[in-house]
Amino acid sequence: MKLTCPSALRLLALAAAVLALNLRAADSPREHLSLDANWKFHLGDDWPGALHLDKAGASTGPASEKFSDNSWRSLDLPHDWAIELPFDRNADESHGFKPVGPGFPKNSIGWYRRTFDLPAEDSGKRIWLTFDGVFRDATVWVNGWLIKRHEGGYYPFREDITDVAHFGGKNTIAVRVDATKFEGWFYEGAGIYRHVWLDKTAPVAIAPDGVFVWSKIDWREIRGKLGILGAIPIYSSTRVINSLDTKEPTIIKFEMLDSKGMPIAQAEQSVEINAFSEREVELRIMLRHTNGIVNWGGPPKGVGFDSADFSPELWSPENPKLYKLITTVEADGKIVDREETEFGIRTVGFDKDKGFMLNGQPYFLKGTCNHQDMAGVGAALPDALQSFRVAKLKEFGCNAIRTSHNPPTPELLDACDRLGMLIMDESRLLGSDAENLRKWDDQIRRDRNHPCVAIWSVANEEFSVQATPQGGNVARTMQNYVKQLDPTRPVTYAAPQGDTFDGINGVIEVRGWNYHVGKSADQYGKDMDSYRAKHPDQPQVGTEQGSTVSTRGIYVNDTVRGYVSAYDVNAPSWANTAEEWCTVFGARPWLSGGFVWTGFDYRGEPTPYSWPCINSHFGILDTCGFWKDIAWYYEAWWTTNTVLHLLPHWNWAGKEGQEIRVDAFSNCKSVELFLNGAALGKQDMKPFSHLTWPVKYAPGTLSAKGFDADGKVIAESKVETTGDATQIQLTPDRKTINADGEDVSVFTVSALDAQGRAVPVAQNKINFAVEGAGKILGVGNGDASSHEPDTFIPNLPTRVIAVNDWRWKLARVPNKVRVLPEYAPDFDDSSWNTIKPKTDGDTGELVIKTENTTAVYRAHVKLTEEDLNNPNVQIRFTGCDDEGWYFVNNQFAGESHDWQAQPLFDIKKLLHTGDNVIAVGVKNDGGEGGLNPDVNVEIVGKATASPWTRSLFNGLAQVMVQATKDAGEIKLTASADGLQSATATIQAIAGQMRPRVQ
Ligand code: GAL
Repeated sequence: MKLTCPSALRLLALAAAVLALNLRAADSPREHLSLDANWKFHLGDDWPGALHLDKAGASTGPASEKFSDNSWRSLDLPHDWAIELPFDRNADESHGFKPVGPGFPKNSIGWYRRTFDLPAEDSGKRIWLTFDGVFRDATVWVNGWLIKRHEGGYYPFREDITDVAHFGGKNTIAVRVDATKFEGWFYEGAGIYRHVWLDKTAPVAIAPDGVFVWSKIDWREIRGKLGILGAIPIYSSTRVINSLDTKEPTIIKFEMLDSKGMPIAQAEQSVEINAFSEREVELRIMLRHTNGIVNWGGPPKGVGFDSADFSPELWSPENPKLYKLITTVEADGKIVDREETEFGIRTVGFDKDKGFMLNGQPYFLKGTCNHQDMAGVGAALPDALQSFRVAKLKEFGCNAIRTSHNPPTPELLDACDRLGMLIMDESRLLGSDAENLRKWDDQIRRDRNHPCVAIWSVANEEFSVQATPQGGNVARTMQNYVKQLDPTRPVTYAAPQGDTFDGINGVIEVRGWNYHVGKSADQYGKDMDSYRAKHPDQPQVGTEQGSTVSTRGIYVNDTVRGYVSAYDVNAPSWANTAEEWCTVFGARPWLSGGFVWTGFDYRGEPTPYSWPCINSHFGILDTCGFWKDIAWYYEAWWTTNTVLHLLPHWNWAGKEGQEIRVDAFSNCKSVELFLNGAALGKQDMKPFSHLTWPVKYAPGTLSAKGFDADGKVIAESKVETTGDATQIQLTPDRKTINADGEDVSVFTVSALDAQGRAVPVAQNKINFAVEGAGKILGVGNGDASSHEPDTFIPNLPTRVIAVNDWRWKLARVPNKVRVLPEYAPDFDDSSWNTIKPKTDGDTGELVIKTENTTAVYRAHVKLTEEDLNNPNVQIRFTGCDDEGWYFVNNQFAGESHDWQAQPLFDIKKLLHTGDNVIAVGVKNDGGEGGLNPDVNVEIVGKATASPWTRSLFNGLAQVMVQATKDAGEIKLTASADGLQSATATIQAIAGQMRPRVQ
């Protein structure tokens, strides 16, 4: 290996070299292109026989290149069709009462198609197709070739489609998505709900997810101060693929840039890669301090130096500094590939006594578990909403997310790297079979460069096997697998067990605790303490805690409407209030802190209720990200902000004189409460606690003062009785968004009284309209029992005309497209045989009894001018055994060569008003055969959508507005009966567009 050694003085020269390399990057043939836009979608299992396994390229229906999807709905990914379905009380409660999955076959299978061009110049490149996640089982065809059958809803999958691609022509992707089976016990969505990518590379290129970069830091106490011993080694390994049939000499170059884009170090290595093979190239760069500039060095010399003299920008949630590794592959003096990999320099680990350690120091995990869905969009989140959610969690001090119970969307990890949030990255299922390990491998390779990823979790609550020796074996294998691919991160298991060491807990590196805090003061923390006494060397972490249930703005349990009071008092039998678990964990640093179930409410699991509740109550935030009162509890104990929050609201007309419980969530040393200026008592606050006063209700102002230890007022807070709502207020979270067709601004909708105060009890129904360069993506309000739609998608009105009265006759039909006299509209078929229409969806009456026999079928359909004014008219056949040539008014409409095919042809161009004649030449290849006479003409109208609307829930609603690709103003208007409307304007600015396939 050759290492170049830029001295401090040569940094400028190095910068120039990197600049030159950047310019030359344009020469790299790698293209990473989004395939999200311009898909066609059809819901329904209308082509159950499409998949053919007998011959390559033999699949039919939408799987075939020739299929016309003109009448299908157009949409952009990510897409979740479950969110679009109405609620149904017969549907699965844990999946949010959406009629998809077991028992709902009609709604559980969807088809997606799109085409794209590959220029002839791409010939010779490798073409890769990647799906980040599809719920659920996906069957994928490219140009009619079956290229993938992927089971599962959360793991990415990828295929090299070079061999079946059309260079210099049109390519067709068809995806059948089968959401019939659930994986989780929570809302999972349905469809291609994450991104799809097309990558083009040279035949010698970096393998997919082929770069891994990590660092090691030797933390030592030096003269009573934590410091770094020696230099910081940065390791990188790169897998390079050679798809050519010749041995290829290459040069692999590495360059490191700091968070400001300044070059730090570079190195290169020459390697030969054998034909049709892959090679891993490993490199180590030593970073050490030289005259104020972090510079590369040779192998470690064992020199210790003080951290005060050394200032690598270590990544942490509070200071998320990212470095970049640029990997370049050269062959024949040309750049053949170049990839940029962002990474962070930081260490993570667990100490049996100090708990979780970040950068050598104890770091208390203030985590939340989260599912991936959100109000308005279900499981299909544009990237902007990932950032929105991470930022929302940070607001109340959350510093870690557990991606329960599945591998995350990669863009969530990007947001966490950038904004500063640790991740516990969880697999979907415990398993050491080859298939599960392959998925685990994909997950680890994809996610391991992200500095946010701090811990791997092999699984969650595997009740049936967790305490068995086999459970232990499997967990050990998964853990060992991690260690092979990632030497830097610890591994845990989310165990819903008490003081149990059998099975998984006995082999796992870090003992995870789901619940088991205890239900009364004498039990609190007992399980953990006795476990620690027996296994003092095993570190521990609270993988899942809390499960406190509450509804935003509700202060009494309501079993009929399905609301839980927002005081910190309700938790199911296995769970605890926030105060209980925080007190136990706060007193035990060796437990590392933990992850609350959950940060956000999610669809499904409406514990402790069922219908009409459709989403969970566990969130610190509701499904929109609006704060519930409990968020102030966490802010008080998880941040250094001075917090003083009073609950409930003070709009209790009709309850005058009645006692109302008033709580304060605060980190002040003491708090004094007042009603309309009259003092109601001052109380001292214990850590992780809250304060309570019984207060006789009188309208007016409830206020509080918070004091520090010296009795100084450090916070004031009040809630006021408001008047009725008179006006709407719209507040966008971002006033400028990117005009890229993807970016989103999230608008908060609230109602104000005449004095401009937010009305916490307003429930008005609000109508929304958007003008300009944006569209509404979804609406929500955080109401766990709302059955209002989250989306108002355009409907394609379809009128179906059955084509009846078929006549048929044996006749000579050539094996190719040829117009026969029998197809002519005025041909006299009165003497032909008749046939009864079939409607039961079977293959129909097989009227041709002998093989190698042909026949002509004819029928009439009458259409009006109005029918033909619709955008689409298609004809759908339920089967033709075995081959068919289809004509409309003597003009060729299409052909089929498979008895299982269910041909669908676009025929608008071939039709006229009045009588139209459909004629089919049929050939029976073997056994009995014929045309299934169950045929329909479908008149497909213009897509129309109902206007967007949503009620306020306890004063708040949310509208997500997405940019189109046009720059300009986006104007959102909200109106409601009896309220003054509101208009808010934001700007979509032409900025960076993600490279994409048109
Ligand atoms: C846990 C489980 C979570 C969720 C939670 C509700 O046992 O891991 O997925 O169901 O209970 O409290």
